[in-house]
Amino acid sequence: MDKTEFIWLDGKLVKWEDAKVHVLAHALNYGTGVFEGIRVYQTPKGPAVFRLKDHARRLMDGCKVMGFDMKFAGKTYGYEDIMTAIKDAVRANKNVDYAKPCVFLSGEEVGLNPVGVPESMAITCIHMGAYLGKAGTEGAKLITSSWHRPDNLCGPAGAKVNGSYVASCLAKREAIRQGANEAVMLNSVGHVAECTGENIFIYKDGKILTPSSAECILEGITRKSIIEVARDLGYEVVETEVTRTQLNTADEVWMTGTAAEVAPVTMIDGRIIGDGKIGEVSKSIHAKFSEIANGKDPKYESWLDYVN
Ligand SMILES: Cc1ncc(COP(=O)(O)O)c(C=O)c1O
Repeated sequence: MDKTEFIWLDGKLVKWEDAKVHVLAHALNYGTGVFEGIRVYQTPKGPAVFRLKDHARRLMDGCKVMGFDMKFAGKTYGYEDIMTAIKDAVRANKNVDYAKPCVFLSGEEVGLNPVGVPESMAITCIHMGAYLGKAGTEGAKLITSSWHRPDNLCGPAGAKVNGSYVASCLAKREAIRQGANEAVMLNSVGHVAECTGENIFIYKDGKILTPSSAECILEGITRKSIIEVARDLGYEVVETEVTRTQLNTADEVWMTGTAAEVAPVTMIDGRIIGDGKIGEVSKSIHAKFSEIANGKDPKYESWLDYVN
């Protein structure tokens, strides 16, 4: 990863190399943080943050579940302040396409009690490019992970809590070790949930199916966007249970996520999906999504927050 110039830390833009926390920061030891991943697109009207309001809302909701006060360096941050800070961080850096705010317990503490531990927020902006490399556009290979998607009894499955990502990291390692690009994670009853950092969609028998919010998924902002775009394009989209059999026998499979955007899948556990080529449905949805994100469709203008 190439470093950029500034990181927003507790209300100040500090040099990348000066954005530091103590080794005893509670979040480092116990995973007590909440983060977001947000795309920034270059549009004809300048850089725009994609669905900033939704990302700020999800971050705030996750922090609420964690019991955080949202007080950084003496100032309490609300929804508008968070959005302003994200835009400030994007504006301070050149050529960035991804912003990662993280609210975390930065106080030095040994012991699990999070009550009263000081909080910080860091907003890092980077140039990410294609998260899955060529596989993200040419067709990704997936495995089904032996690690399950953590459910709501293990923690808030709908929030992007740092500690909950251990399962995703283990699954990702498993995929890479087996020569795949990504891993599908099943939920605790064996239904398809999602990938390590992406939601999943299938196209079968003329319908688009995606695991519903009851399946212990992270309710992706890209997922929500793609459901709307697909319906606007005339496809039927059903949020439901998805089985491994349906996944393996689908005509098309694709993943959606802020980092991966819309990424077609051509192989799962060694089985070829459809005819092994990128399908027409995901192609058309991806094309429309790119047009929207790059500010070329006025109908979806409200999804973009311009930085300047
Ligand atoms: C586990 C998981 N699922 C799905 C997604 C996709 O969500 P979004 O489209 O909001 O990036 C992400 C990415 O944040 C994720 O971490």
